[in-house]
Parts: sequence; C-alpha cells; structure tokens
Amino acid sequence: MAETETPTLNVLSGIQPSGNLHLGNYFGAVQQYLEFVEQGHNCFYFLANYHALTSLRDRSKLLDLTRSTAMDYLALGLDPDRCAIYIQSDIPEVCELQWILSTVTPMGLLERCHAYKDKVAQGIPSDHGLFAYPVLQAADILIVRADRVPVGQDQKKHVEVTRDIAQYFNTSYGEVLKLPEPYIPEHVAVVPGRDGRKMSKSYNNTIELFAPEEEIRRQIFSIVTDSATVAEPKDPETSIIFSILKLFCTEEESQAWGDRFRSGGMGYREVKQAIFDKFMEKFGDARRRRRELEKEEDYVAEVLRRGVHKARTIGGPLVDQVRDAVGIPRLIYD
Ligand code: ADP
Ligand code: TRP
Repeated sequence: MAETETPTLNVLSGIQPSGNLHLGNYFGAVQQYLEFVEQGHNCFYFLANYHALTSLRDRSKLLDLTRSTAMDYLALGLDPDRCAIYIQSDIPEVCELQWILSTVTPMGLLERCHAYKDKVAQGIPSDHGLFAYPVLQAADILIVRADRVPVGQDQKKHVEVTRDIAQYFNTSYGEVLKLPEPYIPEHVAVVPGRDGRKMSKSYNNTIELFAPEEEIRRQIFSIVTDSATVAEPKDPETSIIFSILKLFCTEEESQAWGDRFRSGGMGYREVKQAIFDKFMEKFGDARRRRRELEKEEDYVAEVLRRGVHKARTIGGPLVDQVRDAVGIPRLIYD
C-alpha cells in the first residue's frame, strides 16, 4: 500500500531588523524555520525592513541591522541553497498587494490588533504605518501562497488577521488567495526575558545571540531571581531562570534540574553558570560563523539576490493574478 506522503508546504516567516537577535527569536522562531527546511519544505525567510520603519527612524541603523540580521540567519544555519532568504523591500509587489488588500480590510479588524491598541492605550501617538502594519504582514504571507507561518505566540493574531483579510478578498473576487496557518509549538510560544516579561528587543530584557561573550555573561547573570538562600527549596514552576534553562535541556535534564530546585541546596549562581555554558555550547559554532560572515559581504548580497529572485517567481504572478481579479490588470511589463 502506498504510504501517505507529506505534501511540500510553502513556509514563510520574517523578523524585523529593528534590534539584535535574541533567545526569544531563536527558540520562538528561527528554530522552527530550521526544522521546516530540514523537512524539505519550500521555505521563505525574510527581513521585514518596511515593518521596522514603524519603530526605527535611523537610516544607518536600519541599513546595518538589515545586513547584520541577514548574517544572523545564515550563521544560525539557514542554508540559502535550501530556502529563500531576502529583504522585504526587494519585492516591490508586496506594497502593491498591501494596497489592494487594504481595500478589503475592515477598520475594526485593525483596531483590534495589539501593537496599535497598546500604543493608543499608553497614550503614545500612533501613525498610519503602525495601524496598517498587519495588512503589510498579510501581503508578506499571501504573496508566496504560504501554508504555514512559524512565529511566536505574539504573532498569532497577525496570522489570524491575514486569514480574515484573505477571506474577505476571496469573498469579493473568487478563490485567489490561500489561507495560511500559524505554527507555534507550545513549549517555546513565549520565551521569558530577564525580567520575566516576554523577551523582546523593545523591553531591554534580552539575552542576545551574537553579543560579545562578556555581555552575554552579564545578561545571563542579570536574570531576575527571588531572594531564596542556597539551602532553601525553590519552585521551578514559578521561576524565570528555570524557564530559560529548560530551553536548553532535554526532557530528562529538565526533570533532574527541577528536582534539584525543589530539594534545596542549589544556588541561582550555579544555574546561571549552567545557562551560560549551555548557551556557548549551543551557539558557539554559529557565533564563529557569524564572525566569518562579517568578511563576506559579497556572498551575503548574492544570497539575498538569489532569495528575492525565488520569492518573486511566486510573488510576481500572484500579484498579477490579484490585480487581474480586481480589474487592474498589469499592462506594462518590464
Ligand atoms: P521582538 O519582540 O524582540 O521585536 P520580533 O517582533 O522581531 O521580536 O519577533 C520575530 C519573531 O520572533 C516572531 O516570530 C516572534 O513571534 C518571535 N519572538 C520574539 N520574541 C519572542 C519570545 N520572547 N518568545 C517567543 N517568540 C518570540
Ligand atoms: N510582525 C512580525 C514580528 O514583529 C514580523 C513579520 C513581518 C512577519 N511580516 C511577517 C512574521 C510575516 C511572519 C510573517 O515579529
């Protein structure tokens, strides 16, 4: 009997080049990117520089971070021969698609999105870019007909909004757009930061992947702990430091550490040192590769060129189809 074959999926995700990559980005996103590549799917991973403009108004910083995040992707093992790596703004059709999608997107859908809602709630002036952010994200996803979108929990809403927008479009114009699904493994959905809130570039609570070793040590040793003495038993379930340690552990190792927390006689310094050692073991090779890539600017540029070419071979015809469906067929070809 023929075995049921797993179909090849289109997988897409992106990270804003608005700061340095951290453990939350790795465990919540990049680790899953690597798995999909490993499984042989058709993967698209990009740098969301248009999105980064909603929080970063600094030309040279944005240029530097875009270049350096591309190197981070490569250093972490994304193989440009097996997945497309590109810069969002290199696909001009993304903005065309965003506009068309925005015309089928109800205001209420965007008013319920968190980034915008949070800013407004904090009394921070918000702009149209932030409000329209989820529509641009929908364009990123729909343009390559993505089936799966590996992201952290904070992005779930945005993938749901993408599905809604695609459905609104299809209802008006026929079944043109494919509805994507988020991929969010539960155990890494929200990686806590050093202060226990979600780890995020914007909270200054990260453990960075590629900072100098001494900085990594400082960040790990500043993870917030309670004032329990070495002798006292500790509850791993409520401990930030245990949640971070667990990311690096097998099931058995976390069991063993959990037992040590509960039985007392173990100090937080020892746990922090263990996290530091495991961090260096896990990311040592990537950190070395990252240093090498610094010297290979032409190679990185070539990777990005190849990546965008591949994305546009799907994205170009998709946007032509969308334009045709709404009654704005493309008449000028380059
Ligand atoms: P940040 O919040 O630091 O700005 P991004 O918004 O650029 O991070 O996130 C890029 C990807 O990494 C997204 O898929 C996001 O869900 C994931 N991610 C970021 N922080 C975390 C975290 N603390 N836990 C799990 N996933 C995360
Ligand atoms: N909004 C995402 C974030 O902040 C980045 C992003 C932009 C993205 N476009 C995307 C993620 C498309 C997944 C798919 O993390």
